[in-house]
Amino acid sequence: MALASWAAMGGIDETEVAIVGAGPAGLVLAHLLAARDIDCVVLEQRDRAYVEHRVRAGVLEHPTVELLRELGLAERLEREGLAHRGIQLAVDGIRHRIDFVELTGRSITLYGQQEVVKDLIAARLAGGGQIVFEALDVAPTAIDTDRPVVQYRHDGVARTLRCRIVAGCDGSYGVCGPLVADRTVTEHTYPFAWLGVLAEAAPTQDELVYASHDRGFALYSMRSPTVTRLYLQVAPDEQLAAWSDDRIWDELATRLPVGDGFRLNTGPIIDRGITAMHSSVATPMRHGNLLVAGDAAHIVPATGAKGMNLAIADATVLAAVIDDALRGGRPEHLADYTPTCLRRVWRTQHFSHRMTTMLHRFDDDAFRRQLQRTELEIVTSSVAAATDLAEHYVGLPFATLAERAT
Ligand code: FAD
Ligand code: DHB
Repeated sequence: MALASWAAMGGIDETEVAIVGAGPAGLVLAHLLAARDIDCVVLEQRDRAYVEHRVRAGVLEHPTVELLRELGLAERLEREGLAHRGIQLAVDGIRHRIDFVELTGRSITLYGQQEVVKDLIAARLAGGGQIVFEALDVAPTAIDTDRPVVQYRHDGVARTLRCRIVAGCDGSYGVCGPLVADRTVTEHTYPFAWLGVLAEAAPTQDELVYASHDRGFALYSMRSPTVTRLYLQVAPDEQLAAWSDDRIWDELATRLPVGDGFRLNTGPIIDRGITAMHSSVATPMRHGNLLVAGDAAHIVPATGAKGMNLAIADATVLAAVIDDALRGGRPEHLADYTPTCLRRVWRTQHFSHRMTTMLHRFDDDAFRRQLQRTELEIVTSSVAAATDLAEHYVGLPFATLAERAT
């Protein structure tokens, strides 16, 4: 066909796996498939700068770091990530340490999600991988057949990507989740949100502080030796405009345990946003040859720092079942995907819900407040309870093939 008429019709490309979304789930999946010599194309609706600068999560579980290391993607993370051996829980202004290394032998790493995304994109492109940024109107079709097609527009041209599998890694507002025709969504909304800020202020210690306070929850975190990340529990319909810089710093100083020797450095606020607190699980995570991963299938409230880690855990299962289907000649193993993921998903929902309800202020209920205080007392005084929290916080091992729920 003449080039002109080809362009007029739009291009037709072919790959084995079409991945929708260049977030942590989609990019890790692309690397895992490349490591298995499975061809894939990532279609991302935003431009590269946007996805590389979107401020979100920051805590990497131990298994996430190990995976990135195994994939040869942890060079900058090893250099710039901040290894933390534990966290602190502040109750009534008094700090209690949970020492992960002592309790589990493992630690966590602070490294911004956008830094992970930058590293994954750079390595994928350097390895000859294909990521189409600004892929608009992405529409997977024929997902019930063994030859799915993804249509989209790029640079004003309609394009068609033929594939064997579509991986829906397009987050909570993506197009792939709703294509799982028979999915059921189980969800819970919390009566508060988080105001998160990034500040040019040197962290004063190398452990996070989760503070339960009568005025509401606060979290002290960090991104680098010069940048602090802070969160405040606010009303679910809170307006950013209501929070001047002074009000933010005053409220943080009130809720964080400054009376117990904790120091808070202030500085210019360089990013701010409000995040809803929500739990949801959509199941099944597969429809025919469309398999959905990460936020496209489930949301956890941020308190346990699990969203990104869970998205990456899904990608490890997805890569394994795709490998079985495309290379091992066992397409029936795609049926293992949902049950295998769901075990970790619900463990993570449980942990995130527990951290959220243990630490936030609920206005309505004196009975609940007493139970919260008791739970905090248990977790800060019992080694068994602290170990349970620590094991979940540092991250359960990724499911091995042998552990599949078949
Ligand atoms: P995403 O990171 O959302 O990636 C999906 C990608 O798909 C995006 O790049 C998006 O642009 C793209 N996309 C969407 N629709 C389409 C389409 N139609 N076509 C093509 N591409 C598409 N977790 C924590 O643990 N701690 C936190 O502090 C925290 N803060 C958060 C703040 C915000 C504002 C949000 C939204 C989430 C936050 N999370 C946090 C959750 C965590 O960041 C997510 O769980 C994680 O990003 C999930 O990764 P993912 O790859 O599944 O989805
Ligand atoms: C961060 C976010 C979390 O949700 C959390 O529990 C701990 C730290 C962070 O952004 O640094």
